[in-house]
Amino acid sequence: MRVLGIETSCDETGVALYDSEQGLLSDALYSQVKMHAEYGGVVPELASRDHVRKLLPLIREVMAKAELALADVDAVAYTAGPGLIGALMVGASTGRALALGLGVPAVGVHHMEGHLLAPMLEDNPPSFPFVALLVSGGHTQLVSVKGIGQYELLGESLDDAAGEAFDKAAKMLGLDYPGGPLIARLAQQGNRERYRFPRPMTDRPGLDFSFSGLKTFTLNTANGARDDDGNIDPQTMADIACAFEDAVVETLAIKCRRALQHTGMKQLVIAGGVSANQRLRERLAEVVKKERAGLFYARPEFCTDNGAMIAYAGCQRLLAGQSADLTILARPRWPLDTLDAI
Ligand code: KG4
Ligand code: ZN
Repeated sequence: MRVLGIETSCDETGVALYDSEQGLLSDALYSQVKMHAEYGGVVPELASRDHVRKLLPLIREVMAKAELALADVDAVAYTAGPGLIGALMVGASTGRALALGLGVPAVGVHHMEGHLLAPMLEDNPPSFPFVALLVSGGHTQLVSVKGIGQYELLGESLDDAAGEAFDKAAKMLGLDYPGGPLIARLAQQGNRERYRFPRPMTDRPGLDFSFSGLKTFTLNTANGARDDDGNIDPQTMADIACAFEDAVVETLAIKCRRALQHTGMKQLVIAGGVSANQRLRERLAEVVKKERAGLFYARPEFCTDNGAMIAYAGCQRLLAGQSADLTILARPRWPLDTLDAI
């Protein structure tokens, strides 16, 4: 089955063609980050308009790269939520209408299920069951995954998501949006010993997270380091970035280890934008070694939003006989643990 996947939930337009026999045939991505950087974050109305501009050209590009025609598409998968309603509506209405026009089935995909299954596109994929750490701009969740749609929430952030915390910390240091990759780059020059930031909620049992206190701690440290003109010297910027990254990574690592112990599972999957973070990957490699478990993640470009993960997740659901009716449905909020199992 050849599935065209469409992702438009936030600030990336992603399209891909996935074949259940041959794997990923082609993919294309247009990121709006430059446009939103000017405003320090995603402007929903601008995001929707840009998806409208870019989606059809990207679909054409993906078909051309695969040297196929739309008539060769067997089904269409689009992100139906969670995300920005206007942005979601662009992908959902285009995807649903395209499927209707082609006379093929369509399926609305849960964005976080897409992220969660993205490591399945790699050469050495995980197998069920596994523990998944979902760390994106909007979510921080630990999930027990027994199969597609068999998701049990083990813990989640009570306030900011990990990616959101990275973005806010970056803003405090005067860095552009999205700040995660910029903090990570800056942290490489940092001195690990200079500051020690708190590891929130690690001193009590449980698998929930909270990053808002860490945000305040970062703000106070940054303000305390400013000179009379309000500037922070480059080395101190790097040291703060390093301490912040360490605190987030260590907090995530402690909870991942706990989740592996709690479930007895031997595979850890990390997914979502923050799973591209090199330091997190290195630290979790140490954790899984101690727990005699395996660590799985997608290539960096499939950690952040992309069409391939939506094509893959949609394909699995379509192969199991699931599909959407003609209603164009976009759900800004959509709890992961309410999905149907296949
Ligand atoms: O999954 P994603 O592309 O979009 C959402 O579904 O939210 O995640 C985007 C988030 C942003 O907050 C971004 O700063 C963060 O992922 N991110 C990173 C890195 N790359 C992206 N955070 C830390 N280190 C990175 N290397
Ligand atoms: Zn995402």
